[in-house]
Amino acid sequence: MDIKTEMIKINPQAIDHEAIARAGEILKKGGLVAFPTETVYGLGGDATNPDASHKIYSAKGRPSDNPLIVHITNMKALEEIVAQAPQAAYTLAERFWPGPLTMIFQKNDRIPYETTGGMDTVAVRMPSDPIARALIDASTGYIAAPSANTSGRPSPTQAEHVAQDLTGKIDMIIDGGPVNIGLESTIVDLTEDVPMILRPGYITLEMLQEVLGEVRVDPGLIAADSDRKPKAPGMKYRHYAPKADLKVVEGETDAVVQKINRLSEELTAQKKSVGIIATEETKDQYRQGIVISIGGRDDEEAIARHLYGSLRQFDELGVDAIFSESFATAGMGQAIMNRLLKAAGHQVLEV
Ligand code: TXA
Ligand code: MG
Repeated sequence: MDIKTEMIKINPQAIDHEAIARAGEILKKGGLVAFPTETVYGLGGDATNPDASHKIYSAKGRPSDNPLIVHITNMKALEEIVAQAPQAAYTLAERFWPGPLTMIFQKNDRIPYETTGGMDTVAVRMPSDPIARALIDASTGYIAAPSANTSGRPSPTQAEHVAQDLTGKIDMIIDGGPVNIGLESTIVDLTEDVPMILRPGYITLEMLQEVLGEVRVDPGLIAADSDRKPKAPGMKYRHYAPKADLKVVEGETDAVVQKINRLSEELTAQKKSVGIIATEETKDQYRQGIVISIGGRDDEEAIARHLYGSLRQFDELGVDAIFSESFATAGMGQAIMNRLLKAAGHQVLEV
């Protein structure tokens, strides 16, 4: 049954604390509030309340074995919910918190199993977005928040995307404008001897190695079709997917453009509509299809910020097929390609 979803606008530069207090009350009573973070919009519920976690899973249509990230604003809050915080946590927090990094710890019993998908570990993040921080402080201090999309759809990078997926299912949406980063946080597991990246993001392997020394990458992340299960339960699902059939075309830029032009011509001849994810440098070279430029080839911040929005735009347009160029940029390329390849169900055409 549908509930009434209130949409409010908050200016991150001049936070309306009365509105935030109201949103905080909704959370304390077990309700759900979607809010902006620097990565993507989150669907918030009180992380200490099992009923709120149940509601999150049901609003998203998310499998309940897929644990939620607990959002906090200070180190004391961290110490209260983990069995133990290793030295690495303080080193990482010093450098990257508040920010787009999630760390995994052994939990204690403050956070219920409903929030951690039955796991004995808990994922924790301290966001930097001022609206997110104000909301956490106005709540119990612990907000469980997955990305605020229907399970399987691209993560929301603006409030409108949240409204498309969750209107009628949650109490409130806070519109704080478009997010900065556009891809979900980097997840690093601190429960083993050597820290391990479970999901790539804005904070790269190199950045983590610089402060920690040895860091591994979950082997389940790299092998697309191996039997190895990724350690973050969420990474095993075909995520971030647009409705149309999406294929990534990889190779030297001119050859990629030619290949996409050929494929689009074929499909257009069959009366199919085609979407193309291009860059500033290539967008004028496509002869057919609806072209979206997601940024300059070397502007990885723009590419990250626009990726999910362009997939949603093609959903709205109802195209039958999407071809995307490949974006193996130096820093965030790992994260961008991880999300793009998952969205494509790992369909890659090499030219
Ligand atoms: O940037 C972000 O992290 C956003 C914003 C809202 O903070 N949140 C987000 O949450 O991306 P979600 O639920 O969409 O993704 C959480 C991921 C899932 O892949 C989940 O399986 C993994 O984190 N995860 C959570 N707790 C875990 C745990 N205890 N062990 C392993 N993986 C965990
Ligand atoms: Mg998600």
